[in-house]
Amino acid sequence: MINIQALENEILNSIQVADTLEAIEAIRLDVVGKNGKLTQAMKNLAQLSPDEKRQAGQTLNSFRDRFTTSLQEKKSQIELVLLESQLQNERVDVTLPVDGAASGHLHPITRVIDEVTQIFAQMGFCVAEGPDIETDHNNFTALNIPETHPARQMHDTFYLKSTSEDGSPLLLRTHTSPVQVRTMMGQQPPIKIIAPGRTYRCDSDQTHTPMFHQIEGLYIDLAEKVHMGHLKSCIETFCRTFFDSSTLPIRFRPSFFPFTEPSAEIDIGCKRTKEGIQIGAGNDWLEIMGCGMVHPNVLKNCGIDPEIYQGFAFGMGVERLAMLKYNIPDLRTFFEGDSKWIQHYGFFPFATGYRTQEDVA
Ligand code: DAH
Repeated sequence: MINIQALENEILNSIQVADTLEAIEAIRLDVVGKNGKLTQAMKNLAQLSPDEKRQAGQTLNSFRDRFTTSLQEKKSQIELVLLESQLQNERVDVTLPVDGAASGHLHPITRVIDEVTQIFAQMGFCVAEGPDIETDHNNFTALNIPETHPARQMHDTFYLKSTSEDGSPLLLRTHTSPVQVRTMMGQQPPIKIIAPGRTYRCDSDQTHTPMFHQIEGLYIDLAEKVHMGHLKSCIETFCRTFFDSSTLPIRFRPSFFPFTEPSAEIDIGCKRTKEGIQIGAGNDWLEIMGCGMVHPNVLKNCGIDPEIYQGFAFGMGVERLAMLKYNIPDLRTFFEGDSKWIQHYGFFPFATGYRTQEDVA
């Protein structure tokens, strides 16, 4: 039988001097590993008489308990030291200068929404919002687009499985025009709002993405206060300010929208070259938005008396404006989340330089 006391002294000594987790593991294997000293001693118990076996067994067991405890204690101490040194090494020096290359950029969509909002804010419009999930009623019916109207098919709508509380089917709004409905339902004129936001259509190719952005405008007031002339000057001011050109050619081309009468599409003068489109030059035209005088049925549907009030509305696509103004050739790149793209086309968030009406006047 081995001398337990001598073994214990030797082992406790080696635990004391161990200062790495590897050394601890080596000691563990040396004592209780498959061929460890204590394992061996336990095996040897078989050769003893029952009485000796009981006594020696107790001694070995209590030794194993003391061994396990002191090995575990030492292991915890070493781990603590390691953790502290790791924390020390990984400390971040917050006083070091910031890496300038890591600064963020505004997405062109954000920038264009800000620019458009500023221009209309100067003309007295405030911002209104509505949800991306709309009722079929607000997106179509209230806007004078009845169920049988072909415009419903044209919009390639994403319908949801559920319906709203009043039974109207739910959908992802196909345009920002339902914000007109929500605003008119909630207040009487004068109303002067623009509504930027996300819109959705089941459409995806080089010039269409299933999610895109629009900005809607609505001005309703006493009939004698707002007519088509106001619409024209409002849109002209916007286009010339936004494209930074006081001589930008603009034309109102008769069109059709169910929610306006009369309706028009706005074209701006441009030149198409191999490199892209040059705004304000040449004798080509480019469509940039729809507009018109709000249809009396829409006013009626929203609780506004068309005998007393009238007004105009307009709607434009944000991506299109951004592509034209900042020469971005491919629509799909807007939504790829490529940080190199945003460094190239994006805007430094703290730059001033939003164009205002004064800049153009
Ligand atoms: N909602 C139309 C669309 O998505 C855009 C539009 C055209 C909005 C004329 C208007 C408007 O308010 O008067 O194509």
